[in-house]
Amino acid sequence: MFSDTMQAYIAQIEAALADLLPDAEHSDVSKAMRYSVSVGGKRIRPVLVLEACRLCGGEPALALPFACALEMIHTYSLIHDDLPCMDNDDLRRGQPSCHKKFGEATALLAGDALLTHAFCVCAESTLAKEQPEKAIRAVALLSSLAGTAGMIGGQEIDLASEGKQISLQVLHEMDAKKTGALIRAACQIGAVIAGANEEKTTALTAFADALGQAFQVVDDILDVEGDTASLGKPVGSDVQSNKSTYVSLLGLSAAKESAKTLTEQAVGALSVFGEEGAFLRALSEKLCKRTY
Ligand code: IPE
Ligand code: IPE
Ligand code: MG
Ligand code: MG
Ligand code: MG
Repeated sequence: MFSDTMQAYIAQIEAALADLLPDAEHSDVSKAMRYSVSVGGKRIRPVLVLEACRLCGGEPALALPFACALEMIHTYSLIHDDLPCMDNDDLRRGQPSCHKKFGEATALLAGDALLTHAFCVCAESTLAKEQPEKAIRAVALLSSLAGTAGMIGGQEIDLASEGKQISLQVLHEMDAKKTGALIRAACQIGAVIAGANEEKTTALTAFADALGQAFQVVDDILDVEGDTASLGKPVGSDVQSNKSTYVSLLGLSAAKESAKTLTEQAVGALSVFGEEGAFLRALSEKLCKRTY
């Protein structure tokens, strides 16, 4: 049941992404955009947009362009994250990183173009025509949570923390921003598009914040314990770059405990949805046990 729904969501998202990305025939930048988006990825964030929308009684079809916009922004963050001036990683989603395949300048521009194109997709959506006030609220969430108060802010802390002993408080802030913010964006955008009430929006936000933290803790664990073939990105990258992570600060077993506790917190936040929350509960549990 869970995997059927997940597969159906992913199929919908991938078809829409293929449709929404610019034509790649005559441009290396457009080719690089399509390459990085289509080589794979778990599609967690767009799935969360669609499911949050459904859970709050909305029409997921109206949320689909926003789900794709968020995946474009996430993919841009990965392209830039892999660049030599950042994490300097050569493998992403099981394939050569964008800059390894297309060169640094083209990868930089492909990231920039995915970010700008995401907002074009939102502006041209059916929701923007039919319910513009909801579309504007969704765009405000997307831009603020991807920016200096969100993902970029977290990446800035990540880079500044290399080779340093940071406090747990700074680690939490870093993870809440670099990873948590786009997961929060996913859930809140779904809720806004559905016109969710305050109780549901608050519950989804608490869910997203715990899930986002858990997601980065597991990412840090996999960087130590995973294997490159299933992970699709280099293992040991954090140690190589002297990153401050959950594992470097607390050790593996405390990190694993923390991933479990945060997942329980995420699941707990779904109680207001009763049985309807089953898909997000299963998703949270699977993400805690993931190997990639
Ligand atoms: C990787 O995100 C970067 C983090 C925020 C930890 P994902 O693990 O969702 O990457 P893909 O989209 O599946 O490749
Ligand atoms: C992810 O952090 C942050 C992003 C916003 C891309 P990581 O640097 O740990 O992500 P991976 O491990 O390279 O996917
Ligand atoms: Mg990084
Ligand atoms: Mg990285
Ligand atoms: Mg990582």
